[in-house]
Amino acid sequence: MNFSDSEIVASILADQNYEPTTDIKSADLILLNTCSIRDNAEQRVRNRLNELHALKRKHPGLVIGLLGCMAERLKDKLLEEERHIDLIVGPDGYRQLPQLLEQVESGQKAINVLLSADETYADINPVRTGGSGVTAYISIMRGCENFCAYCVVPYTRGKERSRSPITIVKEARELFEQGFREVTLLGQNVNSYHWDENNQPVSFPALLREVASINPLLRVRFATSHPKDISDELLECIAAHDNICKSIHLPVQSGSTRMLGMMKRSYTREWYMDRIAAIRRIIPGCAITTDIIAGFCSETEEDHEQTLSVMREVGYDYAYMFKYSERPNTIAAKKYPDDVPEDIKSRRLDEIIALQQELSLKSNKLDVGKEFEVLAEGVSKRSDQQLFGRTSQNKVVVFPRSAFNPGDYVKVVTLSCTAATLRGELAK
Ligand code: 5AD
Ligand code: SF4
Repeated sequence: MNFSDSEIVASILADQNYEPTTDIKSADLILLNTCSIRDNAEQRVRNRLNELHALKRKHPGLVIGLLGCMAERLKDKLLEEERHIDLIVGPDGYRQLPQLLEQVESGQKAINVLLSADETYADINPVRTGGSGVTAYISIMRGCENFCAYCVVPYTRGKERSRSPITIVKEARELFEQGFREVTLLGQNVNSYHWDENNQPVSFPALLREVASINPLLRVRFATSHPKDISDELLECIAAHDNICKSIHLPVQSGSTRMLGMMKRSYTREWYMDRIAAIRRIIPGCAITTDIIAGFCSETEEDHEQTLSVMREVGYDYAYMFKYSERPNTIAAKKYPDDVPEDIKSRRLDEIIALQQELSLKSNKLDVGKEFEVLAEGVSKRSDQQLFGRTSQNKVVVFPRSAFNPGDYVKVVTLSCTAATLRGELAK
């Protein structure tokens, strides 16, 4: 989401004749787009602000602004704590940036952290910054109202709201016409996507079908689905379209039903496994990836074992794994003590990471010797004679460049693998 927000901000600033620079020392304006999801994300921003403070001492005219979730969470407290910040803008305030910058120019500090019930930036055409020119993100909804007990997002990003399907399809079509070959539709919970105009409701599967029908050469991905409402209709829609990628990110968070209850995830382990069975049944060969939290409040060894066992049972292709980090004002912070000692959290996370390494390697080994259609995304870092790209299952493949370029679809037979990458040759 943050990446997508930065592109919206770049677009708003481009209209004000700001130009991006890769040389930080020559910048007149530096905006940090921030995340609050875990404490270490915020600590990194604090460190970065210290570096920028040094830069500002050398260039007193430099304007420094903080955008996004951390701006929303800490509001004017940040202006007190970090005196060299000039500007604070929450996730729903980016349209106001030109006025806020004027205010800064006139010598005042500027802040807008109002959350909105309907801002989706639908009409703003994001500037695609620093990407490959092959893949792009499209934000289709904002906010979240799930209030998982550990999570700060509902407080920093506000109410859930969907963006008009017409603007989404238009954006995807324009990207295709510019040469992009893959779009990822983004939302905190894409299955809650809903639009109703003149009594003509559009659900997420209907939106996905529309985007997929722009052109068979446009791949479509989406993230993230919440397990509580990933429907058979959505799975059938994915199965029915070759260009909807066969890869689903389905955060489990924990394998213990007791933990899931405390986390307010509104599903049990059995429910989650039923959804996994539905994916396996309806979309054979679909990759499944997940998010996992180690050491949530009161987690016992038994709960942790259940997480390891759900990982083995599903056989995830990839996982994002985190240590629980208490976030101020969340339900967990108010109701439960953060009582798993740090060394135990770390050990459990290490075990989860080690198991996932095994599972990723096993999953990749099963793909060796198979042929895949790979969308080439760029030149390999190691050799300009090699390209890298992704399979429909979102696995990275490195293969000989031959006469191919980023943006081409290439048939590749895989020859070897590590836990992270497949290596292949061009199919005969
Ligand atoms: N501590 C650790 N991990 C968290 N996540 C969200 N909030 C927290 C937290 N307080 C993780 C979840 C979520 C992912 C985006 O970040 O796994 O799915
Ligand atoms: Fe956070 Fe839960 Fe919303 Fe995801 S679904 S953003 S974990 S509250």
